[in-house]
Amino acid sequence: MSLALAYSDSPAPAPYAPARDVEIAARGLTVSYRHRGAVFSGIDFDIRRGERVALVGSNGAGKSTLMKTLLGFIVPTSGSIEMFGQDMCAMPQKKQRDVRASIGFVAQKHNLVPRLSVLSNVIHGTLGARSGPRGWLHSVASREIRARALHALDQVGLADLALRRADSLSGGQSQRVAIARALVCEPRLIFADEPVASLDPAAGEDVMQVFEEVTRGAGATLVFTTHNLDHATRYAGRVLGLQGGTLAIDAAVDALPQGGLIGLYS
Ligand SMILES: Nc1ncnc2c1ncn2[C@@H]1O[C@H](COP(=O)(O)OP(=O)(O)OP(=O)(O)O)[C@@H](O)[C@H]1O
Ligand SMILES: [Mg+2]
Repeated sequence: MSLALAYSDSPAPAPYAPARDVEIAARGLTVSYRHRGAVFSGIDFDIRRGERVALVGSNGAGKSTLMKTLLGFIVPTSGSIEMFGQDMCAMPQKKQRDVRASIGFVAQKHNLVPRLSVLSNVIHGTLGARSGPRGWLHSVASREIRARALHALDQVGLADLALRRADSLSGGQSQRVAIARALVCEPRLIFADEPVASLDPAAGEDVMQVFEEVTRGAGATLVFTTHNLDHATRYAGRVLGLQGGTLAIDAAVDALPQGGLIGLYS
């Protein structure tokens, strides 16, 4: 579905001019890797404030590549990205880092520091904003940062485990800590790349529910990749589907094409 169709009730925007509440505007986005050619090309989409978007597609379709490109870690071969109304590709690296400070990221593997406490791991989430031991050891972090980290742990239901070593947690608990670590900077946008892929079904459900609640509660925008189509349609309001280097699907969950998303995998 084209963007014009998806948002046909909003005033007609000027060509390629993002609307006011657009957090991410991608235009003509093309990414090629050396010796591989284009992963995707000419992709256009807007993501609006507060949306919950599932990014789906088969292995190798380019989901992680797209996420890394939006984060500024991959420079697109052509096209543009506006993040919070600012041209991500034209801005200097320091400015990119400032923009990234408003973005939380949760990966498939939680990458907690095993020997440190849960609280210290969450405080790690503020590292982009401050450096040195005060930024990462809970015993010397400022009172304000500790309070924020405890609040983030409370949001994911783990405040009572703050002083436990990270390596004593279950996979589901660890991933919840990773969400708290992403939340501690009070991001306006959260990217999660297969956040529950390594969890059992019950823990995965639990973690997706936490995502849903905390992002809705904070009014944050959520973009997550998944191979679980049930999660995509229950925890997102909109689905972007990559296939064959194009955005084959861009639709609200209740307006998905007949046959749903399974066609993306044929
Ligand atoms: N650094 C790289 N150099 C060259 N090719 C790469 C690189 N990273 C990814 N690719 C290729 O780009 C394509 C897209 O990879 P990507 O990891 O974005 O897919 P994905 O949709 O996230 O897949 P998965 O569902 O397996 O995580 C794949 O063909 C992959 O092999
Ligand atoms: Mg991936």
